[in-house]
Amino acid sequence: MKGLILAGGSGRRLRPLTHTSAKQLVPIANKPILHYVIEDLVGVGVTDLGIVVGDTADEIRASVGDGSRWGATVTYIEQSAPLGLAHAVVEAGGFLGDDRFVMYLGDNMFEDSLEAVVDGFAEGGVVSARLLLSRVDDPGSFGVAELGNDGSICRLVEKPDDPRSDLALVGVYLFGPAIHEAVRSIEPSARGELEITDAISWLVDRGDTVEHRLLDGWWIDTGKKDPLLECNRLVLDGIVGEVAGSVDDTSRLDGMVRVGAGAEVVDSTLVGPVVVAAGARIQGSRVGPYVSVGADCTITGATVDHSVLMDSSRVAGGAHLSDSVLGRHAEVSGGGSASLLLGDHSVVELGESRGVGGD
Ligand code: G1P
Repeated sequence: MKGLILAGGSGRRLRPLTHTSAKQLVPIANKPILHYVIEDLVGVGVTDLGIVVGDTADEIRASVGDGSRWGATVTYIEQSAPLGLAHAVVEAGGFLGDDRFVMYLGDNMFEDSLEAVVDGFAEGGVVSARLLLSRVDDPGSFGVAELGNDGSICRLVEKPDDPRSDLALVGVYLFGPAIHEAVRSIEPSARGELEITDAISWLVDRGDTVEHRLLDGWWIDTGKKDPLLECNRLVLDGIVGEVAGSVDDTSRLDGMVRVGAGAEVVDSTLVGPVVVAAGARIQGSRVGPYVSVGADCTITGATVDHSVLMDSSRVAGGAHLSDSVLGRHAEVSGGGSASLLLGDHSVVELGESRGVGGD
């Protein structure tokens, strides 16, 4: 079975971060989301991987390389334009051939084991597709599946205005070769894209066997700030503490805290779960819970919780950051509280709000 990872989207919902970096490379607990996806696929023996790339192709190639680090072989497929998930399958046709494959959206993460999801699918047979479904509070933001009385899928609708079920289509799909005829038979949707949901609907309408599995654990499409932070929280909840860097006597570590080699913690309190990457320096600060501090970041005289700080970002001068994602080399200073989504190299100075009548 082959793997097809889609990493071509523009990341519109994570701007300005995605003006300069691919959404699939945003780190969760200091590891790019795309690397979790690759590990997941390799973990179930899927090592022949195609990665569909778009505008951020160079960055994705630099981060993943030829895949040999994971024991995988990576073929890059340049999508001529971001015209939808089914369009990506059309353009990956040469790579996929008639093989059965797992299609994995490069910004999706889920808790259940992929092993159980792929079990038995590679052997072929009459099943044209196997879908993963997850119950969500906001089905209108996703592809939605409606089940018939016998429990099988009877209808699939992409982002319905009036959802008739709370079962969202997770961004991991298993397909047999029948999908190729389907993606060539559908028309673009109202948003101008060839929707994979419509292609699967086409299979259902033709009478093909389309199975589904309902996920037990969490699933997150990390394409927006709050789900991204929620994903960071869920992954950090599973970390084990380990101190490879230096922590001075005046600092306190509570709970699960990982301090990478060459990182320094001075006169600070870290409330786990927290991960601090190599070369970061935290001084006179309170960090955590649920914070990922990237390589070479500095946090000085500040408070940070529930946040992702990408490499070389800086927080200083009494700032209190919560629920924030800082791009690389972003800088926040000044005494004030904020929840921010900052692109690379952004500079923000927080001011204390002045009272009415002040001068
Ligand atoms: C896409 C699919 C949608 C699916 C979602 C999962 O949405 O079109 O059916 O539920 O991924 O992440 P998009 O992220 O393109 O809006």
